[in-house]
Amino acid sequence: MKIAVLASGNGSNFEALANAVRNGEIPAKIDLLFSDHQDAYVLKRAEKFQIPSESFELKEFENKAAYEYALLNLLKKNQIDLVILAGYMRIVGEKLLQAFPKRIINIHPALLPSFPGLHGIKDAFEAGVAETGVTVHYVDSGVDTGPVIAQEKVIIDKNDTLEILEEKIHAVEHGLYPAVIAKIIKELGHETCAD
Ligand code: GRF
Repeated sequence: MKIAVLASGNGSNFEALANAVRNGEIPAKIDLLFSDHQDAYVLKRAEKFQIPSESFELKEFENKAAYEYALLNLLKKNQIDLVILAGYMRIVGEKLLQAFPKRIINIHPALLPSFPGLHGIKDAFEAGVAETGVTVHYVDSGVDTGPVIAQEKVIIDKNDTLEILEEKIHAVEHGLYPAVIAKIIKELGHETCAD
């Protein structure tokens, strides 16, 4: 089971996954970290964990299809079986989805189908809902629309600021994502993507 994590920015979820690999909670290693931003902090985190990383940006390519093709080739070259999105800020294209059926997983900081999109935490906060949460789901061609794998609620207290809510959500993410990924890897066993 070879695993790639795709991330665009900070990478705190990547770090939570890398720690879970290190402490044995996740029974596999992360074989590749890819970032579509060459200055993303997540690349530094990969270096710290000595996880191989690659980075290229959409603007280096003629169009989105060429970028996706390069990404697909990178994943194939590394014989990746499972693709974990961790703050990867792009829609995954059809070619990648077809190459990794039910093998691309994402984490979203809200209780989907509520508050999809780029600002899940802020949107829930501003809507004034009593609870929000975190969703782990399979990726399909929509924005945060794929089948839900697991969810965990987070209560929004009256005194919570947006910053406090963000901290609460991220703390839940950092527990839930490694746990769900560990379960998926155990269920897949030694199946490779080609099986
Ligand atoms: C997380 O809130 C995740 O749910 C969302 O993007 C954010 C990434 O944060 N998809 P980080 O880069 O892992 O710190």
